[in-house]
Amino acid sequence: MVLLSPSTLSLLALLSQPLAVLAGDTSGDTCGEITWAGHGAERDVAAATGVPVVPHIPRVVRNTTAPDPGDLVCRFWYPTDSDANCYTCTELSNTFGIDLDFFFTLNPTVLRDCSNIQPLTEYCVAGFIEPLRATDGFCGPQHNNATCFGTTKPCCNAVTFTCGDSDEDCAPGTCYEGKCPGDKYYSTDGTCGFQHGGRQCAGKWGNCCNMSGACGNGTAFCASAVCQSGNCEWNNSPTNSASTTSRSSTTSTTTTSSSSAPTVTTATPGQVREAEEERV
Ligand SMILES: *[C@@H]1O[C@H](CO)[C@@H](O)[C@H](O)[C@H]1NC(C)=O
Ligand SMILES: *[C@@H]1O[C@H](CO)[C@@H](O)[C@H](O)[C@H]1NC(C)=O
Ligand SMILES: *[C@@H]1O[C@H](CO)[C@@H](O)[C@H](O)[C@H]1NC(C)=O
Ligand SMILES: *[C@@H]1O[C@H](CO)[C@@H](O)[C@H](O)[C@H]1NC(C)=O
Repeated sequence: MVLLSPSTLSLLALLSQPLAVLAGDTSGDTCGEITWAGHGAERDVAAATGVPVVPHIPRVVRNTTAPDPGDLVCRFWYPTDSDANCYTCTELSNTFGIDLDFFFTLNPTVLRDCSNIQPLTEYCVAGFIEPLRATDGFCGPQHNNATCFGTTKPCCNAVTFTCGDSDEDCAPGTCYEGKCPGDKYYSTDGTCGFQHGGRQCAGKWGNCCNMSGACGNGTAFCASAVCQSGNCEWNNSPTNSASTTSRSSTTSTTTTSSSSAPTVTTATPGQVREAEEERV
């Protein structure tokens, strides 16, 4: 008997997984629109989420040496089984942990009801649309939203909207996008809170967001009566950014917004995707 190493076994498990999923789901339904009952919600991810559908069919790039903006850069292909059917798109998406909508983005020739998926054919299950890179050093909204990510200076400075690599360029509150959480998470213009996309205050803007959605430091912004997020003084103890770690359990109803360090500890899907966009 041949003994298989654990890593070989898990590789086998991975390889056989789609086969098992596919085999379990061929319940006799055809791929027609009406018989798709139960999967309709998943099929309509794009409509439900408003995630924009790529309006044109991008060029699919297998060789990623020099993709152009808008090219689809695929990082991993996976073959379908011999009995691929209209459930296969959902199954591949689930197996590889991507949104069904993103699967269709990665495979622009596949119809959104998955009816034209082919057996024994490779489909893209990991990749990204090549963004406009700030190759001239200018980034952000005034520059066609060119990204510093994947350039030699990976942080877009929100003051100059040029790419940089200094600590300040990459600091929360200054870094607009690139190798940082960016303006989506940390205000780069001093506006914050529910009025402004739920962004946190950080860096030079101070560490408290007041009820009107403005960032600042000190009691004028951090006092519980005026503070909506950040280093709020939820109890009466004198507060500074270093003293807040020990007062978590007594303020359970407000801890989600009173936690002093608004760090993004787990990577969001966006960050993961951005990470994948970095050229190697
Ligand atoms: C990828 O592109 C480079 C440069 O265009 C070329 O030299 C190389 O042969 C290509 N590789 C493949 C596998 O096509
Ligand atoms: C740049 O991105 C912003 C925010 O996502 C968007 O509102 C704006 O339309 C974009 N500008 C261009 C030129 O694509
Ligand atoms: C808030 O305090 C931090 C840390 O002391 C400082 O770096 C920043 O410049 C201050 N910002 C404002 C707006 O006062
Ligand atoms: C929040 O700060 C802004 C800017 O300083 C100020 O105009 C506004 O009145 C403040 N709001 C509250 C509720 O303190």
